[in-house]
Amino acid sequence: MKSAIIACFLYFLLSTAFTSPSNAGDALTPRRPISDDGSTLTSDGGRFQLGFFSPVAGSPNRYIGIWYNISVRTVVWVANRRSPVTGRSGRLSMSENGTLLLTDGRSSTIYWSSSSLALQEPEARVLENGNFVVMENGSNPSSSAAWKSFDHPTDTLLPGMKLGWNLSTGLNRNLTSWATSGDPSPGDYVAGIDVAGVPQLLVWSGTRQIWRGGSWNGIGFSGIPVMRQDNTLTQNNALTLHYEFASNADEAVYWFYLENSTSLLRLVLNGSGLLERFLWYDFGKRWMPLGAAPDTSRNPCDERVSSCGANGVCGPRASTCTCLQGFRLNSRRTWGDGCERELPTAGCRSRNDTFVTVNNTKLPDTSKATVNRSTASLDMCRDWCLRNCSCTAYAASNLSGNGSGCLIWTSDLYDLTLYDNEDPGQDLYVRQVESRALNKGLSANSLLRRASVLIIVSVVLVAFLLSLLSCWIWRRKKRSLYCDEEETEGKDLDLPLFDLNTIAEATNNFSENNKLGQGGFGPVYKGRLVEGQEIAVKRLSKTSSQGVDEFKNEVMLIAKLQHRNLVRLLGCCIQGGERILVYEYMPNGSLDAFLFDGAKSTLLDWKMRQDIILGIARGLLYLHQDSRLRIIHRDLKASNVLLDKEMTPKISDFGMARIFGEDIEGNTRRVVGTYGYMSPEYAMHGIFSVKLDVFSFGVLLLEIITGRKNRGVYHSTLYLNLLGHIWSLWKEGKVMELVNESIDHSLSAAEILRCIKIGLLCVQERPRDRPTMYSVLKMLDNDNALEIEPSQPGFVDFRGPLHQTNLSIRKQDLSRNYVSVTMPQGR
Ligand SMILES: *[C@@H]1O[C@H](CO)[C@@H](O)[C@H](O)[C@H]1NC(C)=O
Ligand SMILES: *[C@@H]1O[C@H](CO)[C@@H](O)[C@H](O)[C@H]1NC(C)=O
Ligand SMILES: *[C@@H]1O[C@H](CO)[C@@H](O)[C@H](O)[C@H]1NC(C)=O
Ligand SMILES: *[C@@H]1O[C@H](CO)[C@@H](O)[C@H](O)[C@H]1NC(C)=O
Ligand SMILES: *[C@@H]1O[C@H](CO)[C@@H](O)[C@H](O)[C@H]1NC(C)=O
Ligand SMILES: *[C@@H]1O[C@H](CO)[C@@H](O)[C@H](O)[C@H]1NC(C)=O
Ligand SMILES: *[C@@H]1O[C@H](CO)[C@@H](O)[C@H](O)[C@H]1NC(C)=O
Ligand SMILES: *[C@@H]1O[C@H](CO)[C@@H](O)[C@H](O)[C@H]1NC(C)=O
Ligand SMILES: *[C@@H]1O[C@H](CO)[C@@H](O)[C@H](O)[C@H]1NC(C)=O
Ligand SMILES: *[C@@H]1O[C@H](CO)[C@@H](O)[C@H](O)[C@H]1NC(C)=O
Ligand SMILES: *[C@@H]1O[C@H](CO)[C@@H](O)[C@H](O)[C@H]1NC(C)=O
Ligand SMILES: *[C@@H]1O[C@H](CO)[C@@H](O)[C@H](O)[C@H]1NC(C)=O
Repeated sequence: MKSAIIACFLYFLLSTAFTSPSNAGDALTPRRPISDDGSTLTSDGGRFQLGFFSPVAGSPNRYIGIWYNISVRTVVWVANRRSPVTGRSGRLSMSENGTLLLTDGRSSTIYWSSSSLALQEPEARVLENGNFVVMENGSNPSSSAAWKSFDHPTDTLLPGMKLGWNLSTGLNRNLTSWATSGDPSPGDYVAGIDVAGVPQLLVWSGTRQIWRGGSWNGIGFSGIPVMRQDNTLTQNNALTLHYEFASNADEAVYWFYLENSTSLLRLVLNGSGLLERFLWYDFGKRWMPLGAAPDTSRNPCDERVSSCGANGVCGPRASTCTCLQGFRLNSRRTWGDGCERELPTAGCRSRNDTFVTVNNTKLPDTSKATVNRSTASLDMCRDWCLRNCSCTAYAASNLSGNGSGCLIWTSDLYDLTLYDNEDPGQDLYVRQVESRALNKGLSANSLLRRASVLIIVSVVLVAFLLSLLSCWIWRRKKRSLYCDEEETEGKDLDLPLFDLNTIAEATNNFSENNKLGQGGFGPVYKGRLVEGQEIAVKRLSKTSSQGVDEFKNEVMLIAKLQHRNLVRLLGCCIQGGERILVYEYMPNGSLDAFLFDGAKSTLLDWKMRQDIILGIARGLLYLHQDSRLRIIHRDLKASNVLLDKEMTPKISDFGMARIFGEDIEGNTRRVVGTYGYMSPEYAMHGIFSVKLDVFSFGVLLLEIITGRKNRGVYHSTLYLNLLGHIWSLWKEGKVMELVNESIDHSLSAAEILRCIKIGLLCVQERPRDRPTMYSVLKMLDNDNALEIEPSQPGFVDFRGPLHQTNLSIRKQDLSRNYVSVTMPQGR
């Protein structure tokens, strides 16, 4: 069965890309002006329109603007933002030579005009990318436009539109916010590319820098760490966003585009000076915020540029200042004045100087830095810095690939910020004055200090040796008392330890034919023991941080968990570097093979689906509450639910985190899970509790009812997410449309609705709103009306309670550094 995602995406495509070009061929010519009577110019595909508008309904102020032809009026460009026409007498016309003029029909006041042109047979058109161009009749608009609105942006950057400088002509394209949402006149903020030194993204208020987005590192701006993961949104093949930057003798520009997609995307400098990115959500008929920069909840240092002064370091996590190593706070002791070198540098510094690495930073202000893009390695960069007496620090300029290029600073370092470990920053190498110079400067006082340090060190050393000795003696004594403890330990294992040969024999030497599948922890094989018993063999491919004994111990504890709805662990094998788990064999395979397969899914009627849901809930409750261990599964999904020959669902792969010796509850640096089933707090922060499993259970329940996959879709493709889809239909009271065709709704509509509601309660964004498995079972078992109403699911909208943590984080936390994520396979 095609997944919901594909279907939705097609719908989305159809609804935006192939709109009828009713006004195809619209052009403004000297003989065809536009009056304020509702007439418009429409782009060939019908996506953009140009005409007169008022930002506030009923206002007499009229502007010429370009907007998307969608149900929410979204203006992307305004011609006469400073001087509105009052009343409906405005007229946009073109002089014979192609110059555009906005006049008032009665007086001949010119409200706005384009630059003066000298064309023979001019015409003006709105292109399908939103660009309004003036050109010779019939010429190619993308190459020979004489004037284009993309060169005069207002507050919005569209895909393909450039922000920054054409250095040969001095044209500077920057964004200026609207004064207010009802007034397009220039507001307080300007965002643009500053070309002093090494080009940087900056936001100003007047002449004051509000925020430094930083220099381009080959992947993104140094001050927007999330761009390093965002560059290509490959999580869903449907939408790939590319960020580009060009810096050479001709231009210094940033732009972005969507690959093979007609989705509507825009970047806006909003009235608070933030760059916000939006994607049009066609189901919801609204703009979905995809995140904003700067994100001061993430990086408080972005509240102010250079708050720690020269050579100060801000962060991480809080806007607290420290001095770089080798520097101390100035004598006035105010951070604004920054830090000065502890040792004055006399003349040119030595080629023997060393560098300290400052890890994970937003690189300092590059307005006085120099770049050499052809430097091949960091070592060469270091040499370049050492050779230049005034070089204070260096860093790689291009992180794409293996890292290349060289940035050097030859002045004090400003606005250096540390990111916390969640954000990918860049390493900066700061020059230290050669230590030999230090020795020469030693005074009697510091000699004394050195002597006392020596004494303390020796005392500590002696104490340490003494304690080591006593420890050794104690252990010897202990061992003689309990000498045979180690031997007996192995014996009380009531878990069968399989021999590797037995398992190899049972699985035909792990033959491909016996392979049942590839789980997150390694391949699974079907096997048959000599006695005839069928088994499933999981050959762990991942190395565990555990020693053999701990591993055995955990396996034994897990094996003790026995419940009708859990796959039984029969034993294990630890031999020859192999770690193998042996489970009972489930003849009907995994639930996903039934749910998402057109033919097989018809076998599952409502009663069976209900039983499966109940079984999973019971198994999970046992793991959470009734077992001795209190296990959080962390990776509950359709492919981890197996079916025995009576179609009883059994949860598999539980306790893997324990087996791998990872933290039991709380917070993990290593997010293990599957897109689509991960709760927001887990995917974003690695926080997990039983409520993570409740979330995954909710997703699974909704999948069981709809027969559709909740594919892992974060930010860019949110509108394609099953949860979002269910939620919007739920709100419209049309959710029954999504119930799988093989379920006869007519008989059990109330039950199904109730079940969907329980599913929605489980996937609520805030963990505390989600019920426990105990309440879920009570709700499932009982058919009284459910009073409680679900709130919005996680991952549907960023304007929920987690809004301050914008999507950038999600992407970031899903970085390959600490995440092992299984993608559900398409079918
Ligand atoms: C605007 O879009 C709608 C569909 O969304 C389409 O039917 C209509 O023709 C478009 N308008 C123009 C002027 O192209
Ligand atoms: C084009 O026409 C406008 C208005 O008629 C005039 O002001 C302008 O000087 C002309 N430009 C050139 C290059 O002739
Ligand atoms: C453009 O030129 C062609 C012939 O070269 C003519 O048929 C057409 O009407 C012109 N279009 C406009 C808008 O002037
Ligand atoms: C800069 O502008 C000139 C004039 O419009 C144009 O010919 C040139 O191609 C532009 N340079 C770049 C790099 O876009
Ligand atoms: C923004 O661009 C305009 C037009 O090029 C220019 O006049 C203005 O100085 C620029 N502002 C900044 C802050 O760069
Ligand atoms: C985009 O389309 C081109 C040509 O059709 C294709 O080669 C490329 O793989 C597509 N890219 C993605 C991300 O789908
Ligand atoms: C600007 O964007 C930020 C972040 O999305 C938002 O919190 C703020 O309200 C926006 N400001 C305006 C005026 O829209
Ligand atoms: C650099 O170090 C080497 C060996 O340690 C030493 O011989 C040389 O004099 C030093 N150079 C300077 C400029 O201090
Ligand atoms: C910086 O990172 C490097 C390698 O990533 C590591 O060896 C070094 O210890 C780190 N330094 C600090 C101060 O954390
Ligand atoms: C840039 O680096 C390369 C290789 O390190 C070097 O050959 C070249 O001279 C450098 N260019 C400048 C301007 O320093
Ligand atoms: C050091 O580098 C800066 C910036 O590239 C340059 O202006 C300066 O001349 C260099 N100094 C020396 C001694 O090479
Ligand atoms: C950055 O490095 C990548 C990979 O080596 C390379 O393709 C790209 O051209 C480099 N960018 C610049 C601006 O040198």
